[in-house]
Amino acid sequence: MFITFEGIEGSGKSLQIGRAHEHLGRRGIPCLLTREPGGTEFGRALRRVLLSPDGGRREPWSELLLYLADRHQHLREEIEPALGRGQVVLCDRYQDATRVYQGAARGIPMDDIERVARLLGIIEPDRTVLLDLDVETGLGRARARNGSDPAAAAEGRFEAEDLSFHRKIRQGYLALARRFPGRIEVVDAAGSPDEVFARVRELLDRWLP
Ligand code: TMP
Repeated sequence: MFITFEGIEGSGKSLQIGRAHEHLGRRGIPCLLTREPGGTEFGRALRRVLLSPDGGRREPWSELLLYLADRHQHLREEIEPALGRGQVVLCDRYQDATRVYQGAARGIPMDDIERVARLLGIIEPDRTVLLDLDVETGLGRARARNGSDPAAAAEGRFEAEDLSFHRKIRQGYLALARRFPGRIEVVDAAGSPDEVFARVRELLDRWLP
């Protein structure tokens, strides 16, 4: 089973996927926790380039190709071998992030994104947890984190975008949930981490009885 977690900045996705990993571990389910960009050594180098607020403006297609380079490497080097060993793979962001950030927000036509993904053999996850939150709350959380954590601030390329950009991201994710109703589960990300994790755990235990 290949499960991805998605959401806007500050939706609590990284915290929740960490707790999902601990929960499955306690249940004795072998599980790989990974993320994009940056799930391989090559990917970590790409992540520094992709998320740095420096480095000048980039064409949407230039950015898209780097995210896909990261994903292609990650699939071949980590995700597919883990699935082949029978592990559950939990991935913090994946192809839906490309559909909304490079597609819905940066304006690359969705058909083009799907065509390149097919060429590269990019598989769909089995299930996706979409942590949905209003944009003001999410950005407030993300900016508070960046203020206290220089490592997070060094990855603030998208967080520096304005509210209308982030609204497109949220709407883009909700549109994907309508397009893939069997795969994507929308989870309300408002409330305390424990409250949100109770919702996530309910899904995990349903998908992996
Ligand atoms: P995160 O680790 O905080 O989720 O940061 C990853 C950032 O990269 C986030 O702002 C979304 C962006 N991103 C894309 O634009 N396209 C992609 O395909 C992926 C995986 C991430």
